[in-house]
Amino acid sequence: MENRNWIKLEFPSDSRNVGFARTAVALFASQLDWTLDELEDIKVAVSEAVSNCVIHAYRLEEGLVKLEVSHDGSSLEILVEDSGVGIPDIELARETGYTSVPEERMGLGFTFMHEYMDEVQVYSEVDKGTRVRMVKKVPERED
Ligand SMILES: Nc1ncnc2c1ncn2[C@@H]1O[C@H](COP(=O)(O)OP(=O)(O)OP(=O)(O)O)[C@@H](O)[C@H]1O
Ligand SMILES: [Mg+2]
Repeated sequence: MENRNWIKLEFPSDSRNVGFARTAVALFASQLDWTLDELEDIKVAVSEAVSNCVIHAYRLEEGLVKLEVSHDGSSLEILVEDSGVGIPDIELARETGYTSVPEERMGLGFTFMHEYMDEVQVYSEVDKGTRVRMVKKVPERED
């Protein structure tokens, strides 16, 4: 097992930083042996988690988003954390198509995260914030 490597980023919940976050994670993740499709999956999952902080966590205010990414050579872990409004019913929030803003959103963010990552855990407390932990393992390759 290689030594664990990691990065930590903090940025305001400004939509301009969603693209930055996804590219930064992809660059770091490139230390592992992904296919282009897998890297694309990681980018989508990061975009969804960070977008949720921008759109939902602080409503129209601006707050801090914390992103931590690490790997041990075979598995990538991504933590996305905010100190925003929190999620009152996590099970409901994770359902495909559930959104608290139906006139604007599709309610697909958590579904994509589950689709593209091996593990997704959501910890949240109302008025305290939300932390999403995602893990993706490098698949065994036959070659
Ligand atoms: N970081 C967060 N802080 C507060 N609420 C959140 C957060 N992330 C998700 N939620 C809540 O969970 C719901 C479902 O999230 P999900 O990403 O699946 O859908 P969405 O963001 O509403 O729509 P889409 O992702 O398709 O644009 C959101 O509508 C919101 O109510
Ligand atoms: Mg979303």
